[in-house]
Parts: sequence; structure tokens; C-alpha cells
Amino acid sequence: MLEKIDELLIEVQNFTSANKDEIEQFRIRFSGKKGILNEIFGKFKDVPNEQKKEFGQKINTLKQAVESKLTDLKNAGTSQIIQIKEDLTRPGFPAELGTRHPINLVKNRIIEIFKSIGFAVADGPEIEDDWHNFTALNLPEYHPARDMQDTFFLETDPDILLRTHTSSVQIRYMEENQPPIRILSPGRVFRNEAISSRSHCIFHQIEGLYIDENVSFADLKQTLQFFTTELFGKSKIRLRPSYFPFTEPSAEVDVYWGLNSETDYRITKGTGWLEIMGCGMVDPAVLQNVNIDADKYSGYAFGMGIERIVMLLYQMGDIRMFFENDKRMLQQFKSL
Ligand code: PHE
Repeated sequence: MLEKIDELLIEVQNFTSANKDEIEQFRIRFSGKKGILNEIFGKFKDVPNEQKKEFGQKINTLKQAVESKLTDLKNAGTSQIIQIKEDLTRPGFPAELGTRHPINLVKNRIIEIFKSIGFAVADGPEIEDDWHNFTALNLPEYHPARDMQDTFFLETDPDILLRTHTSSVQIRYMEENQPPIRILSPGRVFRNEAISSRSHCIFHQIEGLYIDENVSFADLKQTLQFFTTELFGKSKIRLRPSYFPFTEPSAEVDVYWGLNSETDYRITKGTGWLEIMGCGMVDPAVLQNVNIDADKYSGYAFGMGIERIVMLLYQMGDIRMFFENDKRMLQQFKSL
């Protein structure tokens, strides 16, 4: 009899089923009114006295094993039922929303400002040919100014390269459209430069181009002044003579940032002035290259690095941060 109980115990411990009917049969077989447990209990009185203690212990162990097995199976069963009853049409748990990259935030802001005065956005390829990136922009082969924009070549002769500026988009646009032209070309550009806290081989630019009859340098200055007032809340600018092959005259644009804080002193090197972009009147040679009548039309162009503007606006000290995808940095722009 004692051995029989041992066997039953093993059977109970090994029993498993996910089937409700099978579990119910198991319950009836062991715990039912005429079940095994009751049957064994019924035999207790016939057991010789000296075996009663051991018999009692064994039968109790068996009873507990049956009970805990039934609870386990029931629990497993209920969680299964919950799973089945789950409403599959219920919306999911909210996924964590990403944040816009500061480069895009500022790019969009700049686009908004120029859109409000009639500029449209034009797009172009990042992989360019020599004509659109250099030659059409009055940067012929062997021109020393090409050194200012050393790039990555994918193929040579004919040259295929990663664009060094988004001026290439302006050439493409002018080839397809006649004035009046008023476009912005934002995008990623590439230069063969050492990576440091101030420079990177990949960065972003936004350039502007306006071609029409009687466009003058005064129009350029007024537009830039409007822009700096909108973006920085600073309306004092100065245009310093400079050189770009595709504009004549050319200038660097400085904004008067002021000297109101220690940071102002630091970032302007004590002058109050900050350089933010390059600009100029489109060189007639460029217009001729894209078959626009340079006697009838004139225009201006400007171009800036977006990273630089972001670093200014948010007082960030290292350009490499834009490319590291560190969430601790990116999440700080959540609420902007
Ligand atoms: N394309 C120039 C650069 O990348 C910027 C620029 C654009 C300057 C338009 C003047 C006019 O350096």
C-alpha cells in the first residue's frame, strides 16, 4: 500500500496538461468523492497501528501534491484565458516618441523665415558631377579656389564626387527654370576636412538664391537683415568684403551679437561681431553657364552652415555632438 502511494505521488507530480477536460478528469480521479484520496483515507483504519504514522504522512503528502498541482494548472489556465480574451484591437502601449534633431529644428525654422518672403525649397543629389559642383559655379579645373573645398571623389575623369556645398542645387534649378527664381537649398554636404570640435567632414548647409530683373546688393542686405532679426532677434549686420568664385562682389555676413555677457565676449572674441554666412551678387559668368541672360537679370546668393547656427543658438561647443546620436543630447530638444 505504501509503495502504491509513492507511485501515485510520482504520477501526480509528473502530470501536466493545458486541456481543461483533462485537468477536470485528473481532479475527479484524485479528489472526487469516489476518488483515490478518499479511497486511501478509507483504508486508514485497516492499517496496522505501527504503520499508521508513516501511512498518514504519505497520504497527506499525496493530498498536498494533488492540491498544489491543481492550483498550478488552474493558474496557468487562467493566464491563458486572459491571453485569449485580450482585446486585440486595443491601442498599443504608447511608444516613446523620438525628438527632432537640432539640425532639423533650425533648418525648418530658417526655411520658415525665408518662406514668409517668397522663397521655395529646392532639392538636389548629394552625389554630384564636376560641372554642377564646380565648373558651372565659375570654379574651372585647376582654379586655386577649388582647394577651399577639397572633397571625396567617387570616380575621376569624368569626376563624380560628394557635393561640397548646396550651390550645386542652384545650378540644377537654374538649368531648368528661368527667372524670377527664389529658392533655398538645404542639405548635407561633404568636405575632406579633419574632424575637430569646430569642423567635420559632413555637415549641413542652407543656401539661398534670388534671380530677377534689377536685383541689387541693397536687396541682399535687406533680406539678410530681415533674416537675422527673425532668427536671432538681432538686426545689426555688416558685410565684409570677401571672395567666392561664383559671386561678385562677395561678402561675409557678420551679426552684431553684442557684449552683454561673458559668453558674448567669449564667442565673439571680444568684438561683439559673429560671422554667420557668405553671400554676394551672382557672377554673370554663372548665369551665362546656365543660359540665363546676364544683361537682363541679376541676383544674389547666400549660404550658411546649419551646424554653426545651431551651436550659436544653443551654445553648443562641439560640432561632433551632432553626429554622435547621443540620446542625452538629443532629448534636450524635446520641447522646442
Ligand atoms: N557655397 C558657399 C560655400 O559653401 C557659400 C556661399 C553661397 C557663398 C552663396 C556665397 C554665396 O562656401
